Amino acid sequence: MGGAFRSSLLFLLLPLLLILHATTTHHHHHTNNDTPAADLKLSANSRWIVDDRNGGERVKLSCVNWVSHLDVAVAEGLSKQPVDAISKKILDMGFNCVRLTYPLFLFTDEKIGSMTMRESLRKLGLSGSVAGVQVNNPSLVDLPLVNVFQEVVSNLNENNVMIILDNHLSKPGWCCNDDDGNGFFGDLYFDPEIWVEGIGRVASLFKGYKNVVGMSLRNELRGRRQNLKTWYKYMEKGAERVHAVNPSVLVIISGLNYDLDLSFLQTNPLSLSFSGKLVFEIHWYGFSDGNDWVTSNANDVCGRVIDRVTNNALFLLDQGYPLFVSEWGVDQRGTNDNDNRYLNCFLGWAAEHDLDWALWTLVGSYYYREGVIGMEEFYGVLNWDWSEPRNSSFLKKISPLQSPFQALVPSNTGEDKIIFHPATGLCMQSHSLSLGPCSDALALDYTPENILHVKGTNYCIQANNMHMPVRVGIACDSSKWEAISASKMHLSSRNENGTIVCLDIDSKNNIVTNICKCLSKEYSCDPSSQWFKVINSTSFSIAPPIIQRPVLEGLISNN
Ligand SMILES: *[C@@H]1O[C@H](CO)[C@@H](O)[C@H](O)[C@H]1NC(C)=O
Ligand SMILES: *[C@@H]1O[C@H](CO)[C@@H](O)[C@H](O)[C@H]1NC(C)=O
Ligand SMILES: *[C@@H]1O[C@H](CO)[C@@H](O)[C@H](O)[C@H]1NC(C)=O
Repeated sequence: MGGAFRSSLLFLLLPLLLILHATTTHHHHHTNNDTPAADLKLSANSRWIVDDRNGGERVKLSCVNWVSHLDVAVAEGLSKQPVDAISKKILDMGFNCVRLTYPLFLFTDEKIGSMTMRESLRKLGLSGSVAGVQVNNPSLVDLPLVNVFQEVVSNLNENNVMIILDNHLSKPGWCCNDDDGNGFFGDLYFDPEIWVEGIGRVASLFKGYKNVVGMSLRNELRGRRQNLKTWYKYMEKGAERVHAVNPSVLVIISGLNYDLDLSFLQTNPLSLSFSGKLVFEIHWYGFSDGNDWVTSNANDVCGRVIDRVTNNALFLLDQGYPLFVSEWGVDQRGTNDNDNRYLNCFLGWAAEHDLDWALWTLVGSYYYREGVIGMEEFYGVLNWDWSEPRNSSFLKKISPLQSPFQALVPSNTGEDKIIFHPATGLCMQSHSLSLGPCSDALALDYTPENILHVKGTNYCIQANNMHMPVRVGIACDSSKWEAISASKMHLSSRNENGTIVCLDIDSKNNIVTNICKCLSKEYSCDPSSQWFKVINSTSFSIAPPIIQRPVLEGLISNN
């Protein structure tokens, strides 16, 4: 298999195959593509991704990873649901974008690219999947794999789902380990020149699709061949090739060590001939730190890991580049405490920085993964048969991150603060000081003296007696709120008796003050009910910018 793609004859034939197919069955896509109203042309305005054709307004990428790089080399799920139904479910679940993974050889090895979906499934003994595709996507089952991929992109494109094409590995299969031959330039299946040609070909092939907004050049570089000299050489070469072929797409670049490390860019930036198109990507999972989230104190782990991520990648925002968290996710059954604790820390951080992201994964189950037929994916937002969300409460919890907290233009970012509670995915409300949807969050000022003023008033948030709801009042000088603990996610104040208390929630989602918990080393303690983030937000027109006086008086007299 490894040698096949080097055959120059096959290599030359593939473009011909693509052109022939494009001019026969795919003509309609190219004629339907250019509805000007929905045109997108994304670029980077400092750390923000913006739409050039819409006055430079911010576009937040809220993506989900749709896996299309495993052994079958077909987007997963086509045996379970029609492709159009899947595209529409993606939108229904609140995502605006897909990171669509592909194996390089789909486009550089004619034997793979020209095989039909039926042949590819049969080769692995997946007759059940063949039957499923015949029912759900009968027009795709006898297309060559390259064209099945095109059909998926076309359908997402027509549904106005943005698409980021991600070269996940070379040889189709599950990703990754250090020695799988796909890890770094020069590995068995990773010839750098073939890679540059291949991603250039993908850039060219998808040039006419208005919603193909970005290309991830290569996923999770790794293994013992990793070195910076080669990284710079080929990342620059690959980026230049993609940009030369298709200057409309964002060029998205991954670091070393499974996309955990871009720290070397602090001192040595990439040297490219173009600007305004470069985005960096990182991955961050609970298991990136083994079992630390349950074997150590969660505040300590959250603080330590955020420090590392800041050093490895987040600094890029200050350098003026968008950072795309292109993989994160959890076991959505809610049974993995390591994942659960990580998730609350992650959501607070991702909301605070209002990052662009892609959840792992859309997939409810795979055709075939690591030798297992029909393997269920508990990190997937869809259930096993792709018919509905696996866990609607998980989707609800991440939903505030699917919209921008901060609108652009950059000059009015950071105008307001709101208080976000990751464990519930809710925000402090403008009507009651309890938790509710972030779209109706109370707008605050957070002064240098640590006072939380209700925006545009003399009132501020004040601590109360133990277990009592917080209140608003005018004794603001004695109501200072400090972000404490190693995670900096506890908001702490002194109440009237001088006791140090932390914001917490009660069983009715009222925001109360309680004794601060899990501040010391104990690892069994879960602090997440007390994890809050004061985050930058733009006042959107739907919510009144200031709390109404009668509402305020109601809040005061209630306490
Ligand atoms: C959904 O996730 C929550 C935790 O986030 C968990 O308590 C619940 O049991 C999950 N539901 C299902 C159907 O898996
Ligand atoms: C929030 O906005 C303020 C004011 O613009 C800015 O200084 C700060 O860096 C922002 N915080 C984050 C996390 O972006
Ligand atoms: C604080 O003082 C008030 C009376 O001023 C009292 O009712 C309350 O129980 C005290 N709270 C604590 C935690 O001691």
